[in-house]
Amino acid sequence: MTAQPTPPTAFPGTDPHPLRTHTCGSLTTEDIGRRVVLKGWVDTRRDLGGVIFVDLRDRYGLTQVVFSPQDDTPSHATAEQLRSEYVISIRGRVQRRSPATVNPLLPTGTLEVRVSDLAVLAESAPVPFGVSAHVQKSQHSTEERRLRHRYLDLRRPAMQHRLMVRHQAYQITRRYFDAHRFVEVETPVLMKSTPEGARDYLVPSRVHPGRFYALPQSPQTYKQLLMLAGMDRYMQIVKCFRDEDLRADRQPEFTQIDVELSFTNEQEVQSITEGLMCELWSELLRVRLKVPFPHLTYNEALRRYGTDRPDTRFGLEIEELGKCFIGCGFRVFESTLARNGAVMGLVAPGMGDRGRGYMDRLDKGVVRGKIGAGGLVYVRLPSNGAEPTCSVNPRILPRPYVEAAISQTGAQAGDLLLILCGPIPKVFLQMGALRLHMSRELRLTEGREAWNFLWVTEFPLLEWSAEEERFTSVHHPFTSVHPEDAHNLESKPGQVRARAYDLVLNGNELGGGSIRIHDPGMQEDMFRLLGLDEEQARGRFGFFLEALRYGAPPHGGIALGLDRIIMLMTGTPSLRDVIAFPKTQSAQEPMSGTPSTVDPHNLADLHIALRLPE
Ligand code: AMO
Repeated sequence: MTAQPTPPTAFPGTDPHPLRTHTCGSLTTEDIGRRVVLKGWVDTRRDLGGVIFVDLRDRYGLTQVVFSPQDDTPSHATAEQLRSEYVISIRGRVQRRSPATVNPLLPTGTLEVRVSDLAVLAESAPVPFGVSAHVQKSQHSTEERRLRHRYLDLRRPAMQHRLMVRHQAYQITRRYFDAHRFVEVETPVLMKSTPEGARDYLVPSRVHPGRFYALPQSPQTYKQLLMLAGMDRYMQIVKCFRDEDLRADRQPEFTQIDVELSFTNEQEVQSITEGLMCELWSELLRVRLKVPFPHLTYNEALRRYGTDRPDTRFGLEIEELGKCFIGCGFRVFESTLARNGAVMGLVAPGMGDRGRGYMDRLDKGVVRGKIGAGGLVYVRLPSNGAEPTCSVNPRILPRPYVEAAISQTGAQAGDLLLILCGPIPKVFLQMGALRLHMSRELRLTEGREAWNFLWVTEFPLLEWSAEEERFTSVHHPFTSVHPEDAHNLESKPGQVRARAYDLVLNGNELGGGSIRIHDPGMQEDMFRLLGLDEEQARGRFGFFLEALRYGAPPHGGIALGLDRIIMLMTGTPSLRDVIAFPKTQSAQEPMSGTPSTVDPHNLADLHIALRLPE
């Protein structure tokens, strides 16, 4: 076997390690004739009968570099050994490409660099998946593999673009808040637990055996304390940690744009937030948003869209049909109505000719399977104007009742009327899920760019937790009561509205906030309503209750999910695509193998003995 010649690692001559003169995306026709130095990764290499073409890649773009034995024989010989992802440095002269080789898709596509010197700065082992700018997403290996070699995955231009958008979003956000007199203050990462409804990540204390810090689920108490401290306007781009079941739009550690203001109200918090959204969309997407964003109360959102974060890019609104079926004799509907449940309808336009097979799949697979409802009643209105047919036999559900539902919903020939019944609010949520399913079937959002922001307001303050047998906060225990409902706090706590608001975009919850309780007595009452006795409240929140006694200004704020904002702005379906080193669905980080075991002596230092499940 002949030994491979070791490639040179530096240019010959007086300056063997010159700095690059340009990046791989910056050459223009003005540079034609110039001698330049470029550095980067070998994206692709093509050997066309003696002349070798390499697309050289860095964060800024691609430039074609050409090795010919006539220009420099040693460089050409080394170029023959180049492989994907080698890191190289080249020196050469910029020239115009021949017309046949112009690439109109690349900003540098009319140019190339004829190489006179080549140095290999680092070789690369064969990469486990294609990194090249030319590789289509479908070829991108499994996500597990991509995450295991995240540093390679991040070399792909699509990933770099998302991280750049994220970087720009930080700058725009900080500039915006600075211009509005907000002060960025860092709050502790090792702190006492703040309840936001998820489990805490705990950190054991070495010097205080048996005691733990909690990582922040959010800096909620600290930002309120900063208002008490007179900071007046606070913001922070901050990491939060929540140990909860993961979904595509949830990560165990994620980033909030956290905001709090003194002497404020809902309108001010919302208009400051709208201003930030306008800046982000205008600077990053060149889209001018219309403000103020529309408002919808929680109740209306639930009754019209079956969710507290409606996607309003399409209609398909759900409707209560109970009145149409009073006295209909169909036991399922009648017993639901007798128990104060609801019969809900939804019209899917243009689907009235769907066959039995489709309807069975919708009923069994989607409605019973995925959505978990008891079953689907449907009415098909054929497009040829023939008689509508209901899935329930007319002897069981007589035709006039079905006609009443058709008339109320305005369903037309060619439409499909879908009906579910059940207890409130469960049936609203099931209908909301069916609405989303039908919107996907009908491809209502495909190929259309729309940014439907809205505020959902008047959330309930509390919800009954059957599991814990007590009321829990819908947002968190620091949210103040809607003034019109304050008198009901003791007698009907479940019906009290909060001064809380969520920002929703195209069916995603982007942020949530509220006007806070600033009266210590009221805050104590709230803890009591949540089932904490005085001792427990003092134990967990004594510091906070005490602080409220020393002149607390009225205040309120919001936190926006930065990762979700970038996910939607860059049109990707997963938060993992906009976080440099994310966790998987099972909260692991496959590259470094986190979480991992630790040495027994580390545990001993922390006074911890493990008791693992059998
Ligand atoms: P909330 O819990 O609603 O409010 O969180 C605010 C926003 O943070 C984002 N978010 C998440 N993003 C990714 N992964 C997660 N696991 C995750 N959890 C939440 C969402 C959400 O709307 N302290 C209050 C805010 C306040 O009252 O000012 C809070 O944290 O986009």
